[in-house]
Amino acid sequence: MNELDAVIKRLRHLSEYKVADVLQEMPLTITEQGNSSQAIANQVRTLLSEGKMHQNSHWAAHMTAAVPTESIVGQLLSNHHNGNLLSPELYPTLNKIKQQTLDWLCQLFEQSHGHFTSGASYGNLEALWQAKQQYPRRDTVFAAETAHYSIDKACQILGLKLQTIATDDEDKIALEPLRKACEITAPLAIIATAGTSASGAFDPLDDCIQIAQEFDAWCHIDAAWGGYLKLLPERNAIFGQRLSQANSLCFDPHKAWAQPKPSSVLLYNQPAGPMMSFEADYLQHQPDSRLSGSQGGEAFLPLWLTLVSSGINSLRRDSQHALEQAQCFTTFLTEQTNRPIYSSPSGIVCFETEKDLQRLVQQGVLSTAKRRNKPVYRAVFIGSHVKAKALIEKLQPYL
Ligand SMILES: Cc1ncc(COP(=O)(O)O)c(C=O)c1O
Repeated sequence: MNELDAVIKRLRHLSEYKVADVLQEMPLTITEQGNSSQAIANQVRTLLSEGKMHQNSHWAAHMTAAVPTESIVGQLLSNHHNGNLLSPELYPTLNKIKQQTLDWLCQLFEQSHGHFTSGASYGNLEALWQAKQQYPRRDTVFAAETAHYSIDKACQILGLKLQTIATDDEDKIALEPLRKACEITAPLAIIATAGTSASGAFDPLDDCIQIAQEFDAWCHIDAAWGGYLKLLPERNAIFGQRLSQANSLCFDPHKAWAQPKPSSVLLYNQPAGPMMSFEADYLQHQPDSRLSGSQGGEAFLPLWLTLVSSGINSLRRDSQHALEQAQCFTTFLTEQTNRPIYSSPSGIVCFETEKDLQRLVQQGVLSTAKRRNKPVYRAVFIGSHVKAKALIEKLQPYL
């Protein structure tokens, strides 16, 4: 058995850990002398037990999947390596792996440049920052009312105005109101969401890109959640024909690809322009003019190790599994109720019910959200663990 196999075996053993008998829920106190090794072991067991819920086949409340063992090894490697790519000349192997992973993602999303980030909140901020540099005389950003709140945050940080646009019956940005709004105020940027956080809806990407071009504005695609569909040939059409013309796109492997956080990427279809000027004469290479500083392999080594060990197909299979489970769950709901059900293209299923399912929300089986101003329950089908059958068993006593 090689060393990597041994590590993977040991980690699998850890992830099969039984829920600790004594749960040490209060964190240990931070003291001058430290705590006993027994107390620390108890706390570690508690933490492992807490994280284990992501492996439950009924865990569908949020976009947090069980991390594959290969990715955990990748994260450990990254921690152990601890290099800083602000000095890439010192870490030629890590740097090449970063570029290889980035090139693969650029090709997948039809973009040409980019970098890894800590999450799509950062990606959305930087993309709008770039847009602001390019269109200094404009200040209005258009996004659907269903866009992620990080767009609002980014606008507030950058001193931009966010104008939200109504959505249609399928939670997609309504194109006529968007066009009219652009006629009244020249847009700085149009944000299209590929997989909304609440219901998983896809804005019509081609139309958004085209409208942005008509009004000479930046188009950013927030594909934090739904970007994973790009790997599935049968779902590719949802990204349209113009993806390569989007100015920027962000995607979170730490969501649907079940990677450990942080794993996110921000891509551009042109090299990003300088965003600020500064000097760092102690570095051999001038750092990129973006906000993030020190960065090792944490955002890409786990994904890279999954890709080189299990292959692209393993990501594809897990995604297809999740979508099949979403379909099964939708079929079940359709047979049970005539209240509205919304089964998105990206594996999030929302449904209305008069039943009180708060207990299932507390157990991490479902979450709550709003669709078209109505409260709904929401199930997120993610990774290889979540099973429609397990959700149905949990739900049946309430129906
Ligand atoms: C569509 C969308 N955009 C952006 C974000 C923010 O991502 P992160 O938590 O990685 O910053 C999320 C998070 O759920 C999201 O669903």
